[in-house]
Amino acid sequence: MAKNLIVANWKMYPTLSDSLVLASSIKGHLDELSAVEVVLAPPMSWLITLKQEWRHWPRHLHLAAQNIWSEDQGAFTGEVSAYFLKDVVDYAIVGHSERRRYNSETNDLIREKVHACLRWRIKPILCVGETKRLFDSDNRLDSYRWSVVEKQLSEGLYGVKGEDIERVTIAYEPVWSIGGGRAAPKTYVELTVARIREYLKGKYGRAIADQVTILYGGSVEADNAADYLSLTDIGGLLVGSLSLKAKEFLRICRLASVKL
Ligand code: PGA
Repeated sequence: MAKNLIVANWKMYPTLSDSLVLASSIKGHLDELSAVEVVLAPPMSWLITLKQEWRHWPRHLHLAAQNIWSEDQGAFTGEVSAYFLKDVVDYAIVGHSERRRYNSETNDLIREKVHACLRWRIKPILCVGETKRLFDSDNRLDSYRWSVVEKQLSEGLYGVKGEDIERVTIAYEPVWSIGGGRAAPKTYVELTVARIREYLKGKYGRAIADQVTILYGGSVEADNAADYLSLTDIGGLLVGSLSLKAKEFLRICRLASVKL
């Protein structure tokens, strides 16, 4: 079974010195956590410094961009392409709900970003999630609401071939659960993620779909991480606020390292 993947999305919080301290505290404990893949997504501006800081990163510690641009080069002021980052990061977060919201990113643009990542051997972490709960008062999946997530998947993955889908990670993040203290109930995540897996099976076939890592994200803490990690279809977590606290984040990594 594949190792759990734990992604730390530091968003636009840490300064350069904060990032160096945080990365160093995490790195210092990683030898004991070789059974988990850890991905740090610092602000774009600190990626190169972090990359250069350690010539020898542990093999199970990776860097990610929080975003990339879809084209390789050109008149795109302020953007950074997957082509430019190909030797810097192993992963890139694509389509995070904050980018969909504040930068009006559409599924079409997000799909182009997924393809740009794949073109340059960066593993895209495609974020999907609904803004309103998918379940009705009887805890049944509302098909109209589910169609939002399905559309994000079908448009975000359009043109991704079976041989490439294994390099894509899907991060299921109900938008209403992001931001601390509003984690989605375990059964809710279980049912929705099973639906995502079904969708992938329908598109790529069972054998390939089973290889795709699906993460849960949204108010993940050390106290609820084990619940999500125990779910069959979950292969890791995308952690926001809590990943800025090295001790708490390492607790989550430790929990993830025992599920093998
Ligand atoms: P959160 O953020 O853990 O602070 O809810 C998750 C995310 O935005 O990816």
